[in-house]
Amino acid sequence: MSSQLIDVPRGLTGVAVTTTTIGDVRGDEGYYHYRGHSAPDLARRRAFAEVAEVVLGFPLSAQRELPPGVVLDQGLRTAVSSLCHILDCRSLLDLSVAEREHDVGRVCAAFPTLVASLRHGRIVAPRSDLMPVENFLYMLTGAEAANAVARALEQYLILTIDHGFNASTFTARVIASTGADAGACITGALGALTGPLHGGAPGRVLDMLDEIGSIDRASRWISESLDKDRRLMGFGHAVYRTDDPRGELLREVACGLGGRRVELAIEVEQVGLRELATRHANRRLVTNVEYYGSVVMEACGIPRDLMTATFASSRVVGWAAHILEQAAEGKLIRPSARYVGP
Ligand code: ACO
Repeated sequence: MSSQLIDVPRGLTGVAVTTTTIGDVRGDEGYYHYRGHSAPDLARRRAFAEVAEVVLGFPLSAQRELPPGVVLDQGLRTAVSSLCHILDCRSLLDLSVAEREHDVGRVCAAFPTLVASLRHGRIVAPRSDLMPVENFLYMLTGAEAANAVARALEQYLILTIDHGFNASTFTARVIASTGADAGACITGALGALTGPLHGGAPGRVLDMLDEIGSIDRASRWISESLDKDRRLMGFGHAVYRTDDPRGELLREVACGLGGRRVELAIEVEQVGLRELATRHANRRLVTNVEYYGSVVMEACGIPRDLMTATFASSRVVGWAAHILEQAAEGKLIRPSARYVGP
């Protein structure tokens, strides 16, 4: 039996496990798109709701409010799980296409309200007269954000809606392939996102910049860190062998916001790039979306412990599109492992 197994590279690197019409990441070209539209171009020109509609194939729901009873004192995963339970998300297998769209669409619309409510420890009321990102910042701070701040965060959130078969998206699709409900898919995807090698990086990038403190300490700090086999947070990417196009645009956005943190980040980036190039001559390791993403989020007033949740509030749209696509495919994802034990 085991002789019939097909061995694939570690981490499934370079393996196409299915087909998709949602988007693609071309790692050798430094390009990615949403349904054929360059994602950085969309981030430069369009609003979040418009881009979400491109990815989902239908408009974002206007139902941003949370139902009563959502559990808010046990973190985001439990909050999402309880939201989906209260919304009565049902097995994808038992639902029509329209019902599946309704379930995932409702979770996408309520997600930012959930993140803001977690911050306050109580359900907050969204404002329907504000655009999604303005509303998110309003719910977080209680005040309307300056246009430049809202636009900067909006660009980060557009850039992070979807990104190929990343670990959390794949997780969402594995769970969707079992016919589980949308809540199970999204809660599972969220768990995968929180890892520091994926969407758990932004807070750690800022911790690193804090520890470095000033540019004169950067070279020594980075070199000692790499000597201890520690990874530089916000550097490296599984697919890109060029600059990360998200990082490039976010560097621009961060520079537009300005400030001491941005200056330090730019200086530390240069030192990190030099050190990594010396140590990994055969592997191009440059800053990824989370490096300047964390700097932008901080400048927009997002607390460090809410950055992964904020990332999730846009990626949930990508997960939703993939859940729908997987549910339509109707094939259980069930690979094998080659047994090498005694
Ligand atoms: N710092 C130092 N060394 C690194 C880094 C890094 N950030 N990233 C990769 N390397 C090294 C590895 O140690 C390895 O070295 P070796 O060949 O001597 O053992 C080599 O580069 C290849 O590393 P892999 O683990 O094979 O790279 P992979 O493509 O699997 O990892 C990842 C990609 C997880 C993003 C990695 O670059 C990393 O850990 N980065 C830091 C965490 C981070 O920034 N995460 C956010 C990613 S963006 C996102 O998910 C939204």
